[in-house]
Amino acid sequence: MRNIILDCDPGHDDAIAILLAGQKEKINLLGISVVSGNQTIEKTTRNALNLVSFLSIDVPVAMGYKDPLVRDRMICEEIHGESGLDGFTFPTYDKKIDARNSVELITDLCLKNEKVTIVATGPLTNVGLALKFKPEIKKHIEEIIFMGGSLDNGNVSPAAEFNILCDPEASHIVLSSGLPVKMVGLNVTRKVLVTKEVIERMAKINNKASDLFVKLMKVFNENQAKTFSNFIGGPLHDPVTIASLLDDDLVNYKHMNVTIDLSRGPSYGRTNCDVYDYLKQTPNCYVAMDINVKRFWDIIEEGISYYE
Ligand code: RIB
Ligand code: CA
Repeated sequence: MRNIILDCDPGHDDAIAILLAGQKEKINLLGISVVSGNQTIEKTTRNALNLVSFLSIDVPVAMGYKDPLVRDRMICEEIHGESGLDGFTFPTYDKKIDARNSVELITDLCLKNEKVTIVATGPLTNVGLALKFKPEIKKHIEEIIFMGGSLDNGNVSPAAEFNILCDPEASHIVLSSGLPVKMVGLNVTRKVLVTKEVIERMAKINNKASDLFVKLMKVFNENQAKTFSNFIGGPLHDPVTIASLLDDDLVNYKHMNVTIDLSRGPSYGRTNCDVYDYLKQTPNCYVAMDINVKRFWDIIEEGISYYE
């Protein structure tokens, strides 16, 4: 069973990634390091504490720094709302954040375990910093799989996807790490849309996790319908990372060279994916090219059904 650290910015789709990662028989979730992204670090951390408490996932939750490495902070209130997880009201819990910050939690958990997979579903600030702060963790990292970037256009600018544009410099550190890195970008996640039929299917499971899914996804969809035309459902971006670890055949990847545009122009934060190896640079990233959509929704249904 794979040891994983989940670095996330909950966030509606991050919440479903946490739900999938909490299936103890399938994944050994070592801890959750929270990052600023969809909302401020205080809100994403509070959301993570509420989610693990609600789902009875007993793991340490650590808080990251409030800003990216270099650029100014961005948040995504228009999609995730004022709380960062609008649509579901949690009971009051007494779980506290870990004494370590997110970077310390990542480095501690890596050094204490022989092999760890880092799954990142928010900006890569914490992961980039951890690699710089304690490079000795590299020999413990089996792979890094992140949701971010795209083979084609972005979702917060013509060129850039949100997680990468939030911290392009940290993304560059990860892609330059020399580690096995997998990128799950918009070109794939835009194929798994939370349609009305998906919501109805998951509602039938009729447990606390399905209630969470239905209420969160209704707001996730309402907010995106205001932003994107021809809308039939929000892309469930983040859980694709965890699902890909649960089923090796779910996503097919292509090894190629990927660089981050760090110029402060209109392409800032773009993932330049050299699919046809034009530049003959060393491949440094396995880029997700396609997904078995039917199987993905089966994995989501299995994940929701896991909970009482
Ligand atoms: O662009 C989609 C990504 O940005 C997802 O991780 C979503 O949660 C937001 O963080
Ligand atoms: Ca996210």
